[in-house]
Amino acid sequence: MKALILYSTRDGQTREIAARIAQTLVPQQLCDVQDLAETRQIDWSQYDRVLIGASIRYGHFDAALMKFIAQHLQALQQRASGFFSVNLTARKADKRTPQTNAYTRKFLEQSPWQPDCCAVFAGALRYPRYRWFDRVMIQLIMRMTGGETDTSKEVEYTDWSAVSAFAHEFAQLPGKSL
Ligand SMILES: Cc1cc2nc3c(=O)[nH]c(=O)nc-3n(C[C@H](O)[C@H](O)[C@H](O)COP(=O)(O)O)c2cc1C
Repeated sequence: MKALILYSTRDGQTREIAARIAQTLVPQQLCDVQDLAETRQIDWSQYDRVLIGASIRYGHFDAALMKFIAQHLQALQQRASGFFSVNLTARKADKRTPQTNAYTRKFLEQSPWQPDCCAVFAGALRYPRYRWFDRVMIQLIMRMTGGETDTSKEVEYTDWSAVSAFAHEFAQLPGKSL
């Protein structure tokens, strides 16, 4: 049996984190990594555990996340499962747990699927790659929240050791009888 790791990304950081988790798991646990937005049909019989990662943009996860959960609810509930969210609010240590990160707390309150483990990771700020409007908006948010405002900079806030620790936590979840 394998693990399925799905990611919902706009700029690639959640894909990077998903790939790092997969690297950490192999060879003890084989896994497939897929973009949630491109996932059509899933042969769930191959997988005994599932992990979903999703990033925040303007206060929201991509709508495809909740749609996917609704469509695959039974399969998610039957397997050992985990969730991680990626956002810039989590660059602050006091906003980096599922309960102290507002996006993640709200997700857990609203989701019919309750993952067995959950983490929040700080993402990346990559001003030069954003289109003009997004660059201006993010700079405004950063100014208001005491973050980086130099638009020539790219800053990666992701704590890769926390990502590896979460990968181990996910791998060690007790299996569920299918
Ligand atoms: C246009 C835009 C809007 C964003 N909105 C938020 C936000 O509302 N709250 C937040 O904490 N982070 C926000 N972020 C930061 C992203 O969550 C962060 O850059 C993350 O690494 C993106 O992950 P991805 O590359 O997988 O999409 C935003 C980033 C961009 C570019």
